[in-house]
Amino acid sequence: MDTGNTVLFFDTTLRDGEQSPGATLNVEEKLEIARQLSRLGVDICEAGFPIASQGDFDAVHRIAEEIGPMTEGRKSGQPMVIAGLARANETDIQRAYDAVKVAPRHRIHTFLATSDIHLKHKLKIDREECIEQTIKAVSFARSLCGDVEFSPEDAGRSDPDFLVQVLTEAIKAGATTLNIPDTVGYTTPEEYGWLIKYLIEKTPGADTVIWSTHCHNDLGLATANTLAGVQSGARQVEVTINGIGERAGNTSLEEVAMTLQTRPTTFNLEHNIDTTQITRTSRMVSAYTGMVVQPNKAIVGANAFAHEAGIHQDGMLKHHQTYEIMRPETVGLNASTLVMGKHSGRHAFRVRLKEMGYGDLDKEDLDAAFKRFKHLADKKKVVTDADLEAIIADEVYQPPEIWKLNNIQVSCGDHSMPTASVSLTGPDGVEYRDAALGTGPVDAVYQAVNRIIGTSNRLTEFTINAVTEGLDAIAETTIRIQPDEGGGEYGFNPQTNQPFARTFSGHGASTDIVVASARAYLSALNKMLAAREEKASVVEQKAIA
Ligand code: KIV
Ligand code: ZN
Repeated sequence: MDTGNTVLFFDTTLRDGEQSPGATLNVEEKLEIARQLSRLGVDICEAGFPIASQGDFDAVHRIAEEIGPMTEGRKSGQPMVIAGLARANETDIQRAYDAVKVAPRHRIHTFLATSDIHLKHKLKIDREECIEQTIKAVSFARSLCGDVEFSPEDAGRSDPDFLVQVLTEAIKAGATTLNIPDTVGYTTPEEYGWLIKYLIEKTPGADTVIWSTHCHNDLGLATANTLAGVQSGARQVEVTINGIGERAGNTSLEEVAMTLQTRPTTFNLEHNIDTTQITRTSRMVSAYTGMVVQPNKAIVGANAFAHEAGIHQDGMLKHHQTYEIMRPETVGLNASTLVMGKHSGRHAFRVRLKEMGYGDLDKEDLDAAFKRFKHLADKKKVVTDADLEAIIADEVYQPPEIWKLNNIQVSCGDHSMPTASVSLTGPDGVEYRDAALGTGPVDAVYQAVNRIIGTSNRLTEFTINAVTEGLDAIAETTIRIQPDEGGGEYGFNPQTNQPFARTFSGHGASTDIVVASARAYLSALNKMLAAREEKASVVEQKAIA
């Protein structure tokens, strides 16, 4: 199939990305990320794996319903295609279809492993059975939906001639996109580029489908492999924001988009990504998943556009192109110098938020965000877009508040035991207070919260970042917690058929780092408690049935 000169971006942050250990997202966060992916210009959004759980199904369905029709600000003028993943069996495929069908443009993505290693040890089927199952699955998917993607899992380690056989049958059965996963990130760019070229040349009907790349980053080669695939004729790239995903992650969207953009004569290809939305999307995904971006990460790392060495700074001052191949503005960094301050009113605040893409906040959220803005503007002379984003993330995009933080007071220093007293409002609307000692002020706050709620967790990650420069900057804290033994919540990954212990991330922002840390803890705890309630209600429903 001809996409012209355009490379389609298939984003799987909400599916493969969410499979990263600890990256569990709640429905509201998934919706917000999907909305942002639409603004970013993603062509196809893989919203999840609907068979994995009722929660996954509901999230995909809501994305299909609410984000599926969105066209606002999109370069392509068309809404995103919403895709759902399914193993190659009728139950999974039907479930994926039921979840996505409400979107004006929807896709079923079904997969079956083809490498001998997977056939023998995981699926326990032979090559013939693999072909039969492919035909059955793709035909069934096609009977439901006009847009069907098929992926031969572990293609990177599969026999290329067997792949040709499987893919030939997939095309005959009605597949419209063929995706070639390097599931374990094993191939080199030369090998992966060769594989795509070989498959396109040898598979009858190759020109009737779109060929797609899907590379994992185990050897740090995912972006290079993806670009090699594109140079061999692939016209869809499967990527995630910040490259998050299983193990070392997937190809990162921002790296591929900026390479196509920065090297136009090398690739001579178009895309629909609005690159000025990259930084914002990256920050949102990092805050919601709790997966912190390494400072030297290409395009979106904190140092990606920083010039430290004197010789570089000197060159930059003389001419920015001496050491800069991309302008920071092209990825949405420092995009706006328009600042707000304590004299800015509600109207200016609303207009600015609308310009930043937050035009759809309801009155309650807008009021809460405005209150926080005013509070901040009293402490900080200049409020930038980055501050506003931190406020929105902290105030609006939080899990429902089962427990609400009222206030905290800490005493600490090098001559006393850190002590915290905390006031929370519980699910019953009653105020609870308690105090605790800790190894530091944050620990003391967390211990006091634990005493009130009656929970205990392991803190598996804690990061704190200043949103802007300066001592008056907002601090954004991201944490991850794992419930202690006995209280562990389990997710299920149908791809590996394995349960996994879930971790819960939380984020909070404040000019006070202890308050930001407390808000992050409450955010993670509220997610954990909601998941526990959901699990309890499923068990109860099953018992009734
Ligand atoms: O890595 C992989 O093989 C996958 C498939 C399900 C496409 O994620
Ligand atoms: Zn994958």
